[in-house]
Amino acid sequence: MESRKKQEAEFHSHLREDMPFQRYSAEVEETAEGDPQWSNFKYYSIETKSRAYVDQWIRARCGGKRLLDYGCGNGEDSIVAARHGAFVVGIDISDVSIANCKQKALEAGVGDRTEFLMMDAESLQFEDNSFDLVVEYGVLHHLDFSAAMNEIRRVLKPDGAAICTEALAHNPLIRAYRNRTPELRTPWEVDHILRREQIQMAEKWFARVDYNFYHLATLAAVPFRKTPVFSPLLGCLEALDALLLRLPMIQWQAWQVVIELSKPRKNMPLDKT
Ligand SMILES: C[S@@+](CC[C@H](N)C(=O)[O-])C[C@H]1O[C@@H](n2cnc3c(N)ncnc32)[C@H](O)[C@@H]1O
Repeated sequence: MESRKKQEAEFHSHLREDMPFQRYSAEVEETAEGDPQWSNFKYYSIETKSRAYVDQWIRARCGGKRLLDYGCGNGEDSIVAARHGAFVVGIDISDVSIANCKQKALEAGVGDRTEFLMMDAESLQFEDNSFDLVVEYGVLHHLDFSAAMNEIRRVLKPDGAAICTEALAHNPLIRAYRNRTPELRTPWEVDHILRREQIQMAEKWFARVDYNFYHLATLAAVPFRKTPVFSPLLGCLEALDALLLRLPMIQWQAWQVVIELSKPRKNMPLDKT
């Protein structure tokens, strides 16, 4: 395995051995309190809108389908999809993640509808056209973007679709925060947070690329997450984001983008990346 991939596997296995969770909840934040590795956990408190969109996307499509959870982490999306009738295959480069996913799927009662495999996302061990749906959250910036697009395109069926949630690189304040906290990221990911050019380049592999921006003004709610004003404040800031993030000059300053990929270009040659 290339050394950068070994580094990714070690980084994420270590993270999840200490703290085997990902999604935000107040109780989980309490457990993570004081752990420098999880000092960014609080930001996930404002992800409500983007998560709700992806959740709805999965639930609406996944019944009876084969779904790939690409870089599954602890498998939260896998479990949602399996509960809603999909057969799910989750892959991740971290053995600890895969072990956690298997255990969580059993606990959730979906062990028979899920399979979790340690695998490199840039070189999937699946036949062409194996999946109806691909779900990805926070993984593309750990990968070579072209290799990832090429593999997602290859394993999707011609009428298949993918949904990807990623952080964006453009906001100077968020960049300053990332520069101050290098210990929270692998060296590769620091340099590969997604940029506008890459997202637009996705059209090379997919005839249809749609994207929506999330979380800019809502970041101001983070300090209030443990107070009674949090919910109403978040609601107001979400309404403000809905306006701001329609503006072409502002939208690329968002924290996150949700990208929907469909109509995989099946007639192009496979890239040898
Ligand atoms: C930020 S985490 C996101 C995990 C998960 N998608 C979630 O929603 O919580 C990034 C994940 O990408 C995985 N990863 C990094 N490089 C990978 C690779 N080359 N192949 C497969 N998984 C990889 C890591 O092990 C980690 O679980």
